[in-house]
Amino acid sequence: MKRVVLYFLGGVALCIGVFLWDSQGAVPAGAVGTAGYVALTFDDGPWPGTTRVLLDGLKEREAKATFFVIGKQIATRPELIQRMVQEGHQIGLHTWDHVALRGLGAGEVSRQLEKSRAALVELVGEQDFMLRPPYGFVDETVKQCAGGPIICWSVDTEDWRDEDVARIVKAAVEDVRDGDIILMHDIFRSSVDAALECVDELQRRGFALVTVEELFTLRGREPAAGEVYRKVPPGE
Ligand code: NI
Repeated sequence: MKRVVLYFLGGVALCIGVFLWDSQGAVPAGAVGTAGYVALTFDDGPWPGTTRVLLDGLKEREAKATFFVIGKQIATRPELIQRMVQEGHQIGLHTWDHVALRGLGAGEVSRQLEKSRAALVELVGEQDFMLRPPYGFVDETVKQCAGGPIICWSVDTEDWRDEDVARIVKAAVEDVRDGDIILMHDIFRSSVDAALECVDELQRRGFALVTVEELFTLRGREPAAGEVYRKVPPGE
């Protein structure tokens, strides 16, 4: 009889364990941010060499990121887009031709976004794609046509400027705060090296690297279409 009770208690403990593990939900395993949560974002990809190295490094570190990809490059590297999704990263729009959307008519803005959206849906299925407008340029037409939240940034590493790894890492982590969105580009090898160093340093300080979507989920916030967000700090 006692043995039956033990089996029963063991079963209950197992169920609770599985439930707790499963209820981690949107936040990847091992990614509890004791100091907070930060979203690394990469624009202008995917690129054959650099993006693959970046994905390898992120996987090794159990870090998630958000990739705002250029539409016309999607078809050249479909396997990288699929891999991003499989490994828990988020994909967003960055226009088809990398054009500054501000000042354009609604027809052209929609064409830039719909063409990219259709290419992504074909590869990874229907999803809500957030928009990172090139150069962060936004106007009323862009807001009306975005079809999802508009994600800018609170930390600009200017990684394209000098490709100086040490400076980029410093720019990214120096004043970083819970809920920050960091802008980088997976075009350059220097950016990839800097990004992975940033992940190591941020994790060492107790930050977890999550996607922009996860950042909103963690705050219990629902981002609104056409609204511009630069960060998602706690308690707002
Ligand atoms: Ni860009």
